[in-house]
Amino acid sequence: MDTFDTLTSEKELFSPSKEIIKNSYIEDYDKLYQYSINENEKFWDETARQLDWFKHYDKVLDYNPPFAKWFTGGKINIVHNALDRHIHTFRKNKLAIIWEGEDGKERTYTYFALYRQVNKFANVLKSFGVKKGDRVTIYLPNIPEIAICMLACAKIGAIHSVVYAGFSVDALKDRILDAKSKILITSDGAYRGGKIIELKKIADEAIKKAPVVQTVIVVKRTEHGVSMDSSRDFYYDELMKLPIASSYCKTEETDAEDPLFILYTSGTTGQPKGILHVHGGYAVGTYISSKYVFDIKDSDTYWCAADPGWITGHSYIIYGPLLNGATSLMVEGAPFYPYPDRWWKIIEKHGVNIFYTSPTAVRGAMRYGEAWPNRHNLSSLRILGSVGEPINPEVWKWYYKHIGKEHCPIMDTWWQTESGAFLITPVPTMPLKPGSCGKPFLGIDADIFDENGNSCESEKGGYLVIKKPWPSMMRTIYNDDKRYEETYFSKFGKNIYLAGDTAKRDIDGYFYVMGRIDDVIKVSGYRLGTAEIESAIITHAAVAESAAIGKPHELKGNSIKAFVVLKPGIEKSDSLMEDIRNNVGTHLGPIAKPDEIEFVDSLPKTRSGKIMRRVLKAREMGISEGDLSTIEED
Ligand code: WT7
Repeated sequence: MDTFDTLTSEKELFSPSKEIIKNSYIEDYDKLYQYSINENEKFWDETARQLDWFKHYDKVLDYNPPFAKWFTGGKINIVHNALDRHIHTFRKNKLAIIWEGEDGKERTYTYFALYRQVNKFANVLKSFGVKKGDRVTIYLPNIPEIAICMLACAKIGAIHSVVYAGFSVDALKDRILDAKSKILITSDGAYRGGKIIELKKIADEAIKKAPVVQTVIVVKRTEHGVSMDSSRDFYYDELMKLPIASSYCKTEETDAEDPLFILYTSGTTGQPKGILHVHGGYAVGTYISSKYVFDIKDSDTYWCAADPGWITGHSYIIYGPLLNGATSLMVEGAPFYPYPDRWWKIIEKHGVNIFYTSPTAVRGAMRYGEAWPNRHNLSSLRILGSVGEPINPEVWKWYYKHIGKEHCPIMDTWWQTESGAFLITPVPTMPLKPGSCGKPFLGIDADIFDENGNSCESEKGGYLVIKKPWPSMMRTIYNDDKRYEETYFSKFGKNIYLAGDTAKRDIDGYFYVMGRIDDVIKVSGYRLGTAEIESAIITHAAVAESAAIGKPHELKGNSIKAFVVLKPGIEKSDSLMEDIRNNVGTHLGPIAKPDEIEFVDSLPKTRSGKIMRRVLKAREMGISEGDLSTIEED
């Protein structure tokens, strides 16, 4: 791991203003953190008591490593906490969701209005026979209905599985099949960058290959006319007008450990992993992290610019903010379309106080220059956030200066689909170091291990691990306990969660995440498995074999380069290259299209036949290829 030691820590420190300190929920992070670790269960117990329980739990933690259950014996429903309880308070008529469409359309929902829509749709789902424990696949763009559908599932104890609307046929098919969903909710289309993405068409193709789906509910968004199969397809708006869609539906009193959702994420090999989260622990984690890290107050307008189809959207557009009774802004479409100041205009228009985005988006904004944000009054902003990949110090400073005007602390939150909520992050009162994601969140026992499982001294890079379970952690990989154990709990034993990232800590205890250890490529903050990309490449009739690697990219964090071996007798050509790229787009989604393709005659492999992507990457980057003793190149 010697390559880790060359990174330098930023020495500059950015301290919070008096205003930020005065408003913050956390005064003394160090003291509270110590308490949260020394009295870990007590800390989580006190936190869980801030939510409403139908029945109080018997036990805080029931740990059978690597499987942890939290708040066992307790009855809770996340929707009761995110919606139902607010309608009996002053929040009844407060805005829960403000939505901006790419076409300039705007819609708003008060807590009461959202509550009614969720009740109605929950009744629709029930009328189709959806019961507690059933899986419902949701393939929708960033529109309010995605929140309504997710909450309606959770309300009746059904398990939602959201598939990001940027994914294509095969990705959707795999996820439907793995979850065995009988119901799919989609829309006619999605707007992105002025174009319409044909979601319904993609869904039809996917269902052909995944015939488990019996019912398709179609939300009208683009209204451009799609083909409907009358035996299977129903329009959402028509269903919502029927008497069955009455405006009261009882919230299911789910167990704390009952599944809430599955969200698929890429792994090193094979199929994407169905990360399973549950009602109780996930509610506790997303509630407290949103509150403490973003300092959300009732007067705030909060905007997380992610897509609801990713974990960031699940936890920090929908569940976390609503659990806190906040006003959450949802924005459809591409960030810089039709003009590079679209986002800054939106911040000004809605008086956004807390703004959460990704390093990729900030790099994109930087490319257009500061004149664009400077045209707008961004003085409502108080706290900024970043997520998805390490934020380069220069990008951090640009964000701090040109968006936050040097008075908004940046919460660089490190976490994962698997973690459900923030694991390592600053809190607003913590002095910040650009490029560092701060320190472990309350209750999170994070460390950095060397190859032998010893804690690394400061400035030494190693494996990022979590040494205690936490409430919002995934419970398993859907239907695959073995893979759960092997992926996350085999390297250092059953008590140590291996996050899959490398990191180091500086002398002051600040963490710096360096990247993934496995064959996962982060493109624009999205996690793509090399296996998935390669599988999509070889669906092309001309391809025999392929290997994908990530290369550092100024804007996207990483770009994808694919090495492709063609079938015998096939001529290499530029048009073939383009055809292979487009084919990946069709199968997996545009984000997975390789930026570069190189035709090669063979791929380096281990004796057991595993492709050595590490070697290809080293060659590409012009660095040492490391230990090649197991290589076999045919
Ligand atoms: C991986 C998880 C968590 C929401 C979005 C991504 C990388 C995430 C940071 C950060 C450095 C980060 C890690 C992590 N990552 N946030 N603030 N600094 N790296 O969720 O798709 O499950 O990806 O994203 O590599 O393991 P995800």
